[in-house]
Amino acid sequence: MNKELLQKIIEAGNIAPSGGNSQPWKFHVRGDEIDVIALPEKDHAVLNVKNRGTYIANGALLENISIMAKSLGYRANFQISTDEEVLAKVSFSDSVKDNELAPYLESRHSNRKPYIKETLSKEQKEYLFAREEDYENCTIAIVEGESIEPAAKILSYDISLNMQNKCLHKMLFEEVLWKEEDQKDKPGLYVKTMETEPPKSYMFRLLKNWNVAKFFTKIGLIEKIQSENTKTTSSAALIGAIIVSDNNQDFVSAGRFLENIWLRATKLGLSMHLSAAVSFLGQQVEAGEESCFSKTEVDLLKKLNVQLKSSFKVPEGKLISIAFRLGRGEDPLATSYKRSPEIEWSKS
Ligand SMILES: Cc1cc2nc3c(=O)[nH]c(=O)nc-3n(C[C@H](O)[C@H](O)[C@H](O)COP(=O)(O)O)c2cc1C
Repeated sequence: MNKELLQKIIEAGNIAPSGGNSQPWKFHVRGDEIDVIALPEKDHAVLNVKNRGTYIANGALLENISIMAKSLGYRANFQISTDEEVLAKVSFSDSVKDNELAPYLESRHSNRKPYIKETLSKEQKEYLFAREEDYENCTIAIVEGESIEPAAKILSYDISLNMQNKCLHKMLFEEVLWKEEDQKDKPGLYVKTMETEPPKSYMFRLLKNWNVAKFFTKIGLIEKIQSENTKTTSSAALIGAIIVSDNNQDFVSAGRFLENIWLRATKLGLSMHLSAAVSFLGQQVEAGEESCFSKTEVDLLKKLNVQLKSSFKVPEGKLISIAFRLGRGEDPLATSYKRSPEIEWSKS
């Protein structure tokens, strides 16, 4: 395969979703093969339980690689290990060209707007989750109709946790990029991708100050924002969760499955918005990692995690890798910028 094609395949991987747009990966090309190296140190410090956010993001990256390779007439073969420095060794073999999803790689993005309430048909849902069996140890669970609001309520606790916990508050505001051009050389979330327009944007700026966040909590404003968020999340056609076992490799598969669903949704003109905080923080406290949290917060996170698992009927011993809402939305205010991939080229 020539350098141009390898570059094209890597560029497709590089536009995958990642926590806080951290792009926690780099590439080493040796001859015709690509080593994908996961970089958890670039990802969220507090949220990235057992580096699993990084594995999900890299899984999405591998799915993009597979989809772009297919569109060029190659099959991408993955040798994955979450115990080695190289997360995935990717080699290519000839295959029939398949361009079903590649045209949607560039137009997939997070859409945090409220969605327009609509029910999805059986055919749409079958199309969205058609490849479930290809992703080892991953199953999809969805809630729809009247079951959406209780699940949305649990997921929307991320806002109050972010405003009431000093570690999370610091992490959130260190990640916000206030100017569009800042995205060119820094990871983080450009403020407009969070759908903050005046007057919401003024309030969001004020909340950057920890004392203001504490005051807003005291006077009940954060609770109000949380219930607005519940409404926004409830506007989805469905809320989905990818269920896995308690092992790192499954989180790579979950990332692949998630991206496959997201590209299919994009093809159908539907939008998605991920929600990782409640399940990731729940897993942190379950694993005994409680240094950032008060006793009350630990108890709350444990309770929310039990409720979330029960909403999605998660079998005993399994967990939620990531949750998302899916539906029809107007275009987002802004989309994220992807920094160029770091690539080392060598002959073999
Ligand atoms: C593991 C993981 C966790 C994420 N968690 C959240 C989340 O809790 N809330 C949210 O709004 N976006 C979340 N995202 C989405 C990212 O913020 C988003 O992918 C990134 O900013 C790039 O934007 P894009 O999806 O438009 O390419 C998450 C993404 C990944 C891969």
